[in-house]
Formats: sequence, structure tokens, C-alpha cells
Amino acid sequence: MKIIHANDYAGMCRKAANIISAQIILFPNSVIGLATGSTPVGVYRQLIEWYRKDDLDFSTVHTVNLDEYCGISPDHPQSYRYYMNQNFFKDVNIPAGNTNLPNGLAEDFDMECTRYDHLISELGGIDLQLLGIGHNGHIGFNEPNEAYGKMTHRIQLKQSTVDANARFFEDSSQVPRYALTMGIRAIMQAQKIVMVANGEDKAEILYRAVYGPVTPSVPASIIQLHPDVTIVADTAALRKFPTET
Ligand code: F6R
Repeated sequence: MKIIHANDYAGMCRKAANIISAQIILFPNSVIGLATGSTPVGVYRQLIEWYRKDDLDFSTVHTVNLDEYCGISPDHPQSYRYYMNQNFFKDVNIPAGNTNLPNGLAEDFDMECTRYDHLISELGGIDLQLLGIGHNGHIGFNEPNEAYGKMTHRIQLKQSTVDANARFFEDSSQVPRYALTMGIRAIMQAQKIVMVANGEDKAEILYRAVYGPVTPSVPASIIQLHPDVTIVADTAALRKFPTET
């Protein structure tokens, strides 16, 4: 596992974007696994900037996102499809048909999960998977104590997550109760994993994920068993790491 230290959030974003750029420049047909959330926003902004400078070409790249809410449409501002369009896809030359997220409006969610797993394998698997980390160690929507063996599946959001999300919706009845997520097994099949983390509030969980026991109670700890992981984090998030990292 490589730990890459950045001084601050901007540095973290540049370094992670550099790794993704290198992947795309060296392998223009790459399949890149993407994440949503606040951490990668600046990574996408950096990639857009380099695209505008003509340093990057996304025309033959494919993307597969980790997760999507069930029951809200792609143009809903809280959907992950909307987030990806707004924060990344609309500003680069990736063909819309090359971008993939689980379909949260599918009639049959089991079939949708199977379709998504097949799609990833038909694309040849994920070359590089970008991950964030939740405060409880979740990756994608895989919450603590989720079985490690799962591919894409539907999960029920914890009540605490539903409550936390309520502020983004007109009323709490509209908050999604379910989501589709790539499972731990699907994530671990990626050739490379790049995890980004910033801020003091991620220091404890990042330390447990990297130096603690590999346990489903900290889902991200599984990455210790992956052969090609790079963590890009800022000084605050690496606060608990031994100084030589
Ligand atoms: C979202 C995802 C989540 C986030 C995690 C951290 O696609 O995969 O696991 O990476 O919740 O979110 P932020 O970056 O907002 O702290």
C-alpha cells in the first residue's frame, strides 16, 4: 500500500487527479470506477481543468460509479447521476453512453444489480477505482458489518443516514430508504484502488482502516488485502499515521 501525503485538500485533489490522469494517458480505454460525496469534488474539478488545457481526453474512457439511491430520478438534485453530471461529466468529453451508474429506478433491483455486475465484466473490469471513506469506515454504501462477499446489491439505509439526508429533501417521506451499491467483493476486483481522504474528522477512521484489524466492522479495512492500493490524504487526515508515511 502506498500512502501519499498532501499538505491540504487542494494538494490531495491534484495528486489523486494526477494518478487518474496517468492512468488515462497511458491507457485511454480505461474503465474508471468513480465515487460521489464531498471528497472527490476537487479531484473532478482538477481533471476538468486539465481536460480544458487539452492534457486529457476522455473520449474512450468508460466510468462505473459505486452507488445510486433507489427511487429518485436521474435529474433529482440528490441523485448520484445528477451529482456526476454536474460535477464532472458535463464538463469533459466523455460520451454519455460511456458513463454508468446503477439504475435506481429499475423495476427489479435484483436484475439491475446483476446487469451492473455483467456490465462491469463486459467492460473488462475496473482498471482504477476511486474511493472515499465514510466516518464509520463505509465504502460505497457498504456499511459496517456488511458481508465482504457481495457484488452489486441493494441495501437499506440506516435510520441515522435517512435522518441526516432529510435536510436535502422537501419532506422526510421523500428521503430514499434504499440504495444500490457495488459490494466489497466487486470493489476488491478493481485492478487498482485510489482512496482519497481529507480533514481532521477522517483521521481516526483512516488510521483504523489502514492499521487496524481487517474486519467487516470497518469495511474500508479490507483494502489492506488488495495488492495495489494508493491512499492520497492531507496532513489532517494522516495525523495518526506514523511520521515516516
Ligand atoms: C459515495 C461513496 C461514499 C463516500 C463516503 C465519504 O459514492 O462511495 O462511500 O465516499 O460517504 O463521503 P464524503 O466524501 O462526503 O466524506
